[in-house]
Amino acid sequence: MKRREFLENGSKLAVFGGLASVFGNALFADSKDIKNTESNNNISQKVIKLASNDSKKIESKSDFSASVPSQKLNNGVEMPLVGLGTYDLRGKACIQAMQDALSVGYRLFDTAQMYENENEVGLGLNAGLKTLRIPRERIFVTTKLSNNMSYNECKNEIETRLKNLNLGYIDLLLLHREFESRNEMWRAMQEAHKAGKIRALGISNFSKEVFLDFIKTCEIKPTLNQLETHVFFQRNEYQKILEQHGVKLQAWSPFSKGKNDFFNNKTLESIAKKHNKSVAQVGLNYLANRGVSVIPKTSKIERMKENINIFDFKLDSKDLALIAKLDTGKSSFGWFKG
Ligand SMILES: NC(=O)c1ccc[n+]([C@@H]2O[C@H](COP(=O)([O-])OP(=O)(O)OC[C@H]3O[C@@H](n4cnc5c(N)ncnc54)[C@H](OP(=O)(O)O)[C@@H]3O)[C@@H](O)[C@H]2O)c1
Repeated sequence: MKRREFLENGSKLAVFGGLASVFGNALFADSKDIKNTESNNNISQKVIKLASNDSKKIESKSDFSASVPSQKLNNGVEMPLVGLGTYDLRGKACIQAMQDALSVGYRLFDTAQMYENENEVGLGLNAGLKTLRIPRERIFVTTKLSNNMSYNECKNEIETRLKNLNLGYIDLLLLHREFESRNEMWRAMQEAHKAGKIRALGISNFSKEVFLDFIKTCEIKPTLNQLETHVFFQRNEYQKILEQHGVKLQAWSPFSKGKNDFFNNKTLESIAKKHNKSVAQVGLNYLANRGVSVIPKTSKIERMKENINIFDFKLDSKDLALIAKLDTGKSSFGWFKG
């Protein structure tokens, strides 16, 4: 589907949602420590209209933000290499984080059915787009289907994602895990993509074996696989396999969520000191330079700036050799087997 046609369909599909979603399950490692810090009742149900229509005039998405390069997915859609993870961001803090992130240059945002924050992500983004006069087409929003479901349930859940986010269309919709009903769920996702509701489809937490089997059955290939990836679990071999099939690797928990004492790692500290950068910046630069997009999460604006300011230095061969030695080849969370 041509870009303009897609946008026109998308704007017809704009739906305005309130605060509805109460989903989620304990399937995911990151669901264990969900903290419901803010009550949803505190959030304004006021509908914020989409940013101005003149945004349709924009033909190219290649410059989402001056400071962040983008990469082209296998269906021609461009996606920024750095975005904001939103797991555990709730309530007013989430709405504020979206606006702060937009203001410092973030254009990619990652949420999921399971995070129970799509409404707040959408409210914050719509408010930020309006205030900062950023066209909708200049941001890229990912959400995920987090439960195993039938084809019909999946069709309904896609509509709920659209309604919750209230951004007219979804840029990237992922299967959160290699669900038993992945084939029928993918069928519903493909249909929504063809109808112009979703710009790109992808998967998450698919092991090599399941990925290789899955792509044989897909009419529309996934654009990326979002996987736990960081210096302690580098995924070089799996990235090669994905890329042989035109599929990108996207890193979740690019800081290993602080596990294995990531932020105090001596090797990373010495490399960071040498380049006058932080440990966080070294960890993200290492991934982005491999063409792995990253979605670090923080609610703090200073850290948002730090985590996006990673393209002004280059790791040398000595640094890369030292980082290679940090790879344990294993998940820091102990639940992903792929
Ligand atoms: N597909 C999946 O199954 C899956 C699974 C897990 C995560 N994800 C996605 O990936 C995103 C990122 O993963 P994550 O949230 O698990 O972990 P992460 O991004 O690796 O780490 C987040 C932690 O690092 C801290 N932090 C952020 N920037 C920092 C900095 N510059 N210096 C020091 N500390 C910093 C944050 O604290 P503060 O917030 O206090 O700054 C937070 O405690 C998630 O939010 C979610 O969108 C997807």
